[in-house]
Amino acid sequence: MTPELHTHPNERDKALRRRAERVVPGGMYGHSVQKFLWPGAPQFWDRGLGSHVWDVDGTEYIDLMCSWGPLIHGHRHPIVEDAVSRQMGKLDTGNGPTELFVELGELLVDLVTHAAWTIFAKNGGDVTTLALTVARAATGRSTVLVAEGTYHGSLLWASARDAGIAPGDRAHVDYFRYNDLESLQAVASAHADDIAAVIVTPVRHEAGDDQELALPEFAHGLRSFCDTTGALLILDEVRTGFRLSLDSSWTSFGVLPDLSCWSKAIANGYPLSALLGSEAIRDAARAVFKGGTFWMSAVPMAAALATLALLREERGVEQILDRGQQLMTGIRRQAAAHQIPVRVSGPPSMPYLSFDGDVGWAKAKTWAAGAAARGLYVNPSHNWFISTALTLEDVSRALEATGGAFDDLSAVV
Ligand SMILES: Cc1ncc(COP(=O)(O)O)c(C=O)c1O
Repeated sequence: MTPELHTHPNERDKALRRRAERVVPGGMYGHSVQKFLWPGAPQFWDRGLGSHVWDVDGTEYIDLMCSWGPLIHGHRHPIVEDAVSRQMGKLDTGNGPTELFVELGELLVDLVTHAAWTIFAKNGGDVTTLALTVARAATGRSTVLVAEGTYHGSLLWASARDAGIAPGDRAHVDYFRYNDLESLQAVASAHADDIAAVIVTPVRHEAGDDQELALPEFAHGLRSFCDTTGALLILDEVRTGFRLSLDSSWTSFGVLPDLSCWSKAIANGYPLSALLGSEAIRDAARAVFKGGTFWMSAVPMAAALATLALLREERGVEQILDRGQQLMTGIRRQAAAHQIPVRVSGPPSMPYLSFDGDVGWAKAKTWAAGAAARGLYVNPSHNWFISTALTLEDVSRALEATGGAFDDLSAVV
């Protein structure tokens, strides 16, 4: 099967790729690596507005990737941008924080039930790593249990590759299977009294695989495992945060973590992350060394205050869940009408589409290429992200594009 070529002109993109080959090792890194995309997929971007994005060659798409999660209100939301430019006109990176630091800390502690304090940083990986450090300081133990295959960032303990990683970098990390308490017990037995923490995402959302919602008994089982062993429960909300709830995602199960990690959607695209923790571990959080040159910058905090206020006032979480549901219901119907077996998984605000028997995502790439040729940008092997900027009209235009993408796929499978 040959994935359909991207049909838009992409001369600038091609030229930039050639230049990048020279100055970037491997030409590209991260999600934009070409092997994850279809031939001719745009790699360089020019601008975005609301739910739309334009590639460097000027082609417009409805954006269902939202910059891999951060743009929960879409590109350049006027209220967020207004807060940003007002703060930009005063101070961003200063000698210390502004009052926004305190205001945002108060807001997060107010929104998230388990949280009594917060530490701000920049990337998700900063706060997942800091969560481990705080847990180790609080317990005096070293081992951290991680669900196999889960991404917690690119820092050494969590790196998805082995190149450049010394054995000691992961010496105190061991792995269990998501939604499988027996595998947790089995791995725990090898570490006796040394387990400092269990870190887990609220939903299993590994790239390239169907998503798996946490079973309530798994969430409760992790909580009681931690209570019994004295380990801390860390919920990594970097991807799910503010997409399922304005509280931590397992509060609806009645399961509260000791620490939670937030980033991506917190500031509508401005660089910010936050570690939140419960009262019982405040002293450990005080004791650990923490800091980074840009961690207290005020502009992302202004963006976060505006982003969270908007989500609260406009019932943004309900809106993205609802829009995502409409979109995925339409996609399921189209797949059935084309007799193409698909699976739709994950929360509707961050859905994933996969195709039965799809070796190397070949079908998904053909389908995504067909959608892109009709003005819809999705990734073939990663979950998508819905924003509050996605209108009902966008949903129906997106469904026109996905309908055409199924036609293309029918023609080649
Ligand atoms: C669940 C989760 N944790 C941590 C991270 C790392 O975040 P960052 O890339 O901002 O370091 C990611 C990034 O995708 C993530 O999805």
